[in-house]
Amino acid sequence: VGQNLITIQHVDSTNNFLKDLLSNSKPVSEGTVIMADSQYAGRGQQQNRWHSEPGKNLTFSILLKPVFLPVQQQFDLTRAISLAIINALEPFLGSKLKIKWPNDIYYGDGKLGGILIENLLQGSLIKNSVIGIGLNINQEHFPPEAANAVSVKQILHRDYDLKLILSEICKNVEIAYLQLRSGHYDVVRKAYLSRLYWLNEVKIFKVKDRLFEGKIVAVRDHGPLVVDDGHTTSEYNQKEIEFLNK
Ligand code: BTN
Repeated sequence: VGQNLITIQHVDSTNNFLKDLLSNSKPVSEGTVIMADSQYAGRGQQQNRWHSEPGKNLTFSILLKPVFLPVQQQFDLTRAISLAIINALEPFLGSKLKIKWPNDIYYGDGKLGGILIENLLQGSLIKNSVIGIGLNINQEHFPPEAANAVSVKQILHRDYDLKLILSEICKNVEIAYLQLRSGHYDVVRKAYLSRLYWLNEVKIFKVKDRLFEGKIVAVRDHGPLVVDDGHTTSEYNQKEIEFLNK
């Protein structure tokens, strides 16, 4: 992963760029990384925009071809990638790094980064997986709509070399990916859970218009979040539940 690195200055979205290459039937080798200095239409989860100050942060996409992974198990890829980022950043940032379900990278209560995985299927197999990663590294000020964003620089008060962090992430993505490929789902699932933000803590959640206290007790193999509200445990998909800070 990362041997073939394509850097572009200005692009709509590195995910789009990579998907365009694939749909034009260009041969793109597994592990290719597209990195941009700036994106003018960066995309986040759930139709959100991803804003990042040009030249300050990491915005890139990795191409994987997890043909061994049945589509029902695609959440394991989400797990592996989230973990890889945590493992890459851990030497700098330590144990306050967490994964906010399903795949946000948190430091304390601040959002350090996010992941947007777009799987292109062939039948029930994942032929191409476009893994977009945005991480706040050297940005110092965030707009009000990104009120809970945080960057490595805000935490450690120095600038970091983007390519250096990128190469740590690529190394760790490869390790986690090979773990999946050799069928060690259990290892990946356990490590993911051990890093989960809010696990077993009583917090406030919002489902439809109901606010309630509850705690995350598990994540199902295929991805749903399991929350115990003191009476019953229920499972939620990403669009169904919100975390309410404070
Ligand atoms: C999120 O937290 O909502 C996911 C953010 C993902 C952003 C990255 S930046 C590189 C890649 N290209 C995109 O357009 N989005 C992802």
